[in-house]
This record gives sequence, C-alpha cells and structure tokens, in this order.
Amino acid sequence: MKPSVESHQEELMFQSLRAISWTEFIGQGKIKQALKVALSAAKKRKEAVEHILLYGPPGLGKTTLAQLIAKELNVNIRSTSGPALERAGDLASLLTNLNDGDIFFIDEIHRLSKVVEETLYPAMEDYHLDIVVGQGPSARTLKLDLPKFTLIGATTRIGLIAGPLRDRFGIVHRLTFYEPDDLVEILLHASRKLRMNLDKDVAKSLARRARGTPRIALKLLKRCRDLAQLKNEPGISQKVLDESLQLLEVDEMGLDANDRRLLLALIDKHNGGPVGLETLAATISEEKETIEEVIEPYLLQIGFLKRSPRGRVASVKAFAHFNKKAPAAIAQQTLI
Ligand SMILES: Nc1ncnc2c1ncn2[C@@H]1O[C@H](COP(=O)(O)OP(=O)(O)OP(=O)(O)O)[C@@H](O)[C@H]1O
Ligand SMILES: [Mg+2]
Repeated sequence: MKPSVESHQEELMFQSLRAISWTEFIGQGKIKQALKVALSAAKKRKEAVEHILLYGPPGLGKTTLAQLIAKELNVNIRSTSGPALERAGDLASLLTNLNDGDIFFIDEIHRLSKVVEETLYPAMEDYHLDIVVGQGPSARTLKLDLPKFTLIGATTRIGLIAGPLRDRFGIVHRLTFYEPDDLVEILLHASRKLRMNLDKDVAKSLARRARGTPRIALKLLKRCRDLAQLKNEPGISQKVLDESLQLLEVDEMGLDANDRRLLLALIDKHNGGPVGLETLAATISEEKETIEEVIEPYLLQIGFLKRSPRGRVASVKAFAHFNKKAPAAIAQQTLI
C-alpha cells in the first residue's frame, strides 16, 4: 500500500524539494556513511555495487536514496515497482535494456509475484535470466546474459520479503524515524527553496508534529505556505502554523485523525486491548495493510501502542494523551 500523494501539483512540489545531493540528504548518518564507502569501493574496483535493500516506514527517503546512489555512480536508474512487474517477461525486457553498472530500482519489492521473484534470483546472483519460451512439450528454457547491474529494492514491509530474496542483497539498511533537529534542517532548507520565510522556532514546532517523517514535515510546510499566502503574510508564523495544524486536525504530538481514530477505537471499544489486527481494522473500517504500514509504526515508536502476542494494546501513555484512565491490567502492564 502506498500513501497517496494527494495531487499532481503536490507531487511536483515534492519532486522540486527532493534532495538532489548527499549534502541535501539530511540525517541517517550511519546509512549515508556506509553507502558512501560501498560506492567508493565499487567505483575503485570498477565493479557494480552489490544489491541494496532499503526498508522502513513511508516517507523516510528510500526512493531519494536510490536516486542519489545512481547520481553518485553516474549511472542510469530504471525504476519500477513490485506490482508493476506482472510477468517474468516484464522483468526480462527491463533488465536486458540496462547497461553495466546501472541501477534497477524496484519499489514495494515485497509485492513481487512468486514467478517474477524466482526469475530475479539468478539475475541477482549470476547476471542471467532463465526464460521459458513456448508451451507444453515444446517449451524450452532460454538463458539470457545480463549486464552487471545493481538492484536496489525498497520496502515498508521487510517481514514480507522471503528469506532467499533478502539473502541476495549484500547491503541492507533500515531507515529510522528522524530526530526533530534533522527535520528542522530539512524544513529550513525546503523553505529556502520555496522562498518562504520560516523562523527556526516555528520550524521546531512544525518538526515536532511531523511524526519523524520528512514527507510529512514537507507536506505540513506546504499547507502552512498555502495559508500564509492566502493571508498575504510574508512567512510562516507560529499563528499560521497553529491554524494550519488545526485545519489538518494534527494535534500537539503530531497525531492526525487516523491515528486518533485507531487509538480511540482501541481504548473506547476494546478497553485498550489486546485486540487482533483484523478486528481493529474492521472496527475502524481501515485496511490491515494501511494500519501496519502507515499508521502503526510511529505509534509504536512513541510508545502509544504495543504489540503483544494477543494483539494490539494501547499504552498508559496513550490513555493519558486522551485524558483517560488505563484499566488496571494495562497500568500494571500485565497485558503487554
Ligand atoms: N534525509 C532527507 N533529507 C531531505 N529530504 C528528505 C530526506 N528523506 C526524505 N526526504 C524528502 O521526503 C520526501 C519523501 O521521500 P521519499 O519519497 O524518498 O520516501 P520513501 O521512503 O521512498 O517513501 P515511500 O515508502 O512512501 O516510497 C521527498 O520529498 C524527499 O526529498
Ligand atoms: Mg519511495
């Protein structure tokens, strides 16, 4: 499941704000460092970089990193996604058109079909494809040699990637939520690009409500800019920020209407849990995938939600956030 970018215009705005150099890619220091070493070593050996798997919640910079890697290596990047590769033939036509060293980027790699995934194994390992041509008794396998490419896979759901696929990636990195200071830097940089005044204190205030996610920080910034322009204000003041957050129903912890809907359903309808994912999804009429990929990760990170073998549980902190008293079993953590 992809979080939808609301409009074409918004998508263009994100493109214009996309980090286009390593210095513009803020935070994730360890990953940047490790990647730079791997890229320099491969350049020195004049070899293709090992296959790279990037995983972590939406909006943390996986696609951006893939593009930066291609730029750093001065190679082409061909992008596709798990669901778009329906047949082995789709994969074959993309791979055979690459040059040595090129990047082949598969977004949502956890959604590859079994047959495409299995076709990918020899391609990743020995740079060849085994394609079956014809049908029935006359079917035969054609072996196609491929250029020495680097596959970059991105996923929000590492748990759904089969072991044999994961093992074929030499470099695996998990992107984590950003510290508020990193988000402040991202916001200040973006506001300069948008030619919009943004005070550091206001940026801090905005960053605290961005759920540790650059995409959300930039989206909030965009909404603030809209409101400031509407009011003919030269920059984004605290007042404009507060008003925008109110319009967007984002609270002081950065929780939005969906987060609150989930937590309140858990608290009010299930006494804080534990409750299974399916039941929770049915209670709030939301897809299980959206809960797991988009809503839950941040709530788990800030300790509002816990996963137990018996299901999801709202924490004492979550109860407190809504000024509610946690049942004894939760307060004593016997359910967690
Ligand atoms: N470290 C960063 N520094 C600056 N901007 C960033 C950083 N990480 C992400 N961004 C910006 O945030 C937006 C979202 O990033 P990106 O599309 O790369 O996320 P993603 O991890 O691929 O998300 P998804 O899982 O939804 O595909 C982009 O506009 C990107 O430029
Ligand atoms: Mg992406």
